[in-house]
Amino acid sequence: MSYTWWKNGVVYQIYPRSFMDANGDGVGDLRGIEQRLDHLSWLGVDAVWLSPCFPSPMADFGYDVADYCDIDPIFGSLADFDALVAAAHARGIRVVLDWVPNHTSDRHPWFLESRSGRSSAKRGWYVWRDAKPGGAPPNDWKSVFGGPAWEWDEATGQFYLHSFLKQQPELDWRNPEVVKAMHGTLRFWLDRGVDGFRIDVVQRLAKDPALRDTPEGGCRCEEWGGVQHIHAENHPDVHALLRGVRGVLDEYDERMTVGEVYLMDPAEVARYYGKDDELQLAFNFSFLRSPWSAERFGSEVERMEGFLRENGWPTLVLSNHDVPRHATRYDDPALGEARARVAALMLLSLRGTPFLYYGEEIGMRNGKVPPERLQDPLAFTLHPNLSRDPERTPMQWEPGPGAGFTRGEPWLPIGADAGARNVAVQRPDPRSLLSFYRELLALRRAHPALHAGAFRRLEAPEGVLAFERRAGAERALVALSFAGEPREVRFEDAAVARALSTDPGRALPARAGRLVLGPSEGLLLLLA
Ligand code: GLC
Repeated sequence: MSYTWWKNGVVYQIYPRSFMDANGDGVGDLRGIEQRLDHLSWLGVDAVWLSPCFPSPMADFGYDVADYCDIDPIFGSLADFDALVAAAHARGIRVVLDWVPNHTSDRHPWFLESRSGRSSAKRGWYVWRDAKPGGAPPNDWKSVFGGPAWEWDEATGQFYLHSFLKQQPELDWRNPEVVKAMHGTLRFWLDRGVDGFRIDVVQRLAKDPALRDTPEGGCRCEEWGGVQHIHAENHPDVHALLRGVRGVLDEYDERMTVGEVYLMDPAEVARYYGKDDELQLAFNFSFLRSPWSAERFGSEVERMEGFLRENGWPTLVLSNHDVPRHATRYDDPALGEARARVAALMLLSLRGTPFLYYGEEIGMRNGKVPPERLQDPLAFTLHPNLSRDPERTPMQWEPGPGAGFTRGEPWLPIGADAGARNVAVQRPDPRSLLSFYRELLALRRAHPALHAGAFRRLEAPEGVLAFERRAGAERALVALSFAGEPREVRFEDAAVARALSTDPGRALPARAGRLVLGPSEGLLLLLA
């Protein structure tokens, strides 16, 4: 069976500002990431995805790109980037960049030119419209980050569109010159050896061509407090744009795109795979947003399986830089640590490509960020409680000030638990969460049933998600208890070749059959 890195492997997301600071300025950088690659190869991941590290005024911490083809000095240089890619590749780790095609920074030279006058050659690269009679914005769309989606430009007497901050003007992907320029930015990195791209808010690339107002019932509230409008995203023309992007990737070997398709309907998300001619992978946000429930996770998995069984490969994500960490979301005074292990087993044993978020392998919780240290613009445009800073606090490498992340003043406070919860403490401990992740990653890589096999849900009592993974004659049975009390599961009676429990103290069964799971215990059985 062949092993395709983006399909059978595991991707690890790095938020570069927070992973490792090599130069002591309190902000992570590319040299820092390179210094920590040994942790990632020891852990056993196949690829890293770097959140944006391009030149940026950092209004949205890099998701406002001022130059798609360079590195921001705060992170290093292109030479540092090349060194990082070479060092990662030398360890068999692929490198995925974060491509932000929907909008640029308002300081990008393209936008500066576009804004310079109505007859500027790049006026049509962005979405400029006249005011309505009386001066109101061209339509009723609101920004996801609060306020109207339109910003008035006094000098040229028109509005420009922005789905996010006003410092993030929307590119007009209906303009062929934009498409060509953006394809060029992909080739720039592909030629440097980059293995793929995570594509930011990809469902927004195509909007209603007439930019119509929102019809009755055509918008829904977003968790950030903004609003999503039916006409502002997911127009069917997005699929042709994605075929164009795929065409560029296919000029190279084994490169991949994973889309942040921020839609909650899995049927719609599945369409972004096309006929294997659009995205290779798309994030599944309805899975990520599931509460701690076996039934809900089970139905999310089955829904997506139903849409992708024929022609697509799922993704499995529980945490990223935009949502509270899952160890915090699913925390519990008694069972929090056990749940973090069940979540890890689920993520690494379901069918699909798992994406780990830095620090989840040591069970990092959201950090506490006092009001005077808030950084995320959402804290100011929406509400301090909606700040994404708590899930972006520095990686906890070792005890002591700076947590091994920095010798300077960290840009966000270090988590209060860093002295006890860190890589240095967990690495030598065979019972730690970190050791559990590592063991699971090794098992997953070694067994086609786990990294490539078909998925079949099995009968299980309330509060338990059970399934089989099968590749050829190899079979694995998995039971995950989300319950607070013991649960009995009944598998077929069969000899077990290898078992792994989330509970390091448990006696491992030699046969499947009737088994009792402890509170929030997960069990993986590879059949003989
Ligand atoms: C995506 C990113 C998020 C960013 C937004 C605007 O949702 O993940 O961090 O703020 O796009 O670019």
